Amino acid sequence: MEGDGIISTIVTTGLAKNEAASARATEIATELGAPFVPRDGTGILRLLRRHEADVALIVQAGRLLLSDGTVEYSYHPNMLLVRGLNILRNWRDLFFDAAEMSEGESVLDCTLGFGCEASLAALAVGETGRVVGLESNPALAVVTREGLREFHLDTKPLAAAMRRVAVVHADYQTYLPGLAPGAFDLIAFDPFFDERLEGSEHTVGPLARFGDQRPLDPASVLLARQIATRRVVVKHPSHVELPAELVAVRTKEMSARKGQTAYSVFDVPSREP
Ligand SMILES: C[S@@+](CC[C@H](N)C(=O)[O-])C[C@H]1O[C@@H](n2cnc3c(N)ncnc32)[C@H](O)[C@@H]1O
Repeated sequence: MEGDGIISTIVTTGLAKNEAASARATEIATELGAPFVPRDGTGILRLLRRHEADVALIVQAGRLLLSDGTVEYSYHPNMLLVRGLNILRNWRDLFFDAAEMSEGESVLDCTLGFGCEASLAALAVGETGRVVGLESNPALAVVTREGLREFHLDTKPLAAAMRRVAVVHADYQTYLPGLAPGAFDLIAFDPFFDERLEGSEHTVGPLARFGDQRPLDPASVLLARQIATRRVVVKHPSHVELPAELVAVRTKEMSARKGQTAYSVFDVPSREP
């Protein structure tokens, strides 16, 4: 599945008649440039076939759902609660150790996904900082934007951090070249790699069905090093080696003992003042 808007998407509602949902679905369809299709009691598979579409964005009361007729994804923040609570207890988090963010910094998350690490970044940089998250799949960008705005978490600092993430529908390969050097302090990448981590099938799996599966673009990481004021981090499975051109300029690789995940850290080349 491509993440560049070529996937054919329809927007519809749940089976229950709901005028507010129909109005919201019409708005989202306009935003996505996708057709709004009245549900009229029809099953999703049949609706997809009738409109020769791959994915339906279903607007239900209180939530948005992506469906291909078999796999469904509605927004959830993945490990945000567990990791966020640990961070609030001052326990270590590998992303925090790798990124070393401080209050007031700006962070660009090139691969937003669930917005979990973007929200953790928003927690780190606080109200005076700024976090922008890029998502290349347009329907997923809408689902994540609305989820980050509305998903209920009892832990107030985490809920507030989610709300501070600015979601942008963009492909990092086209977004980064438009940025001036110094536009962000930290730039992060976490694309899908071929393998799923053990135990993540039911959480990451549905996101992966609708997300952009293209591999990490090394040229974009090198470009990010020219843009960030401080650091670039790339998350990857710990047994996967990054392309040689990245390894050649990597500052360090960090992983937890016996951990499945690693962060490759790239400190930016020093700039002339
Ligand atoms: C593994 S998930 C990221 C999870 C995220 N780090 C989190 O904490 O929730 C990868 C996400 O990046 C998106 N993505 C992949 N390639 C992209 C690109 N070139 N530009 C923008 N988003 C991209 C995918 O659609 C997917 O939603």
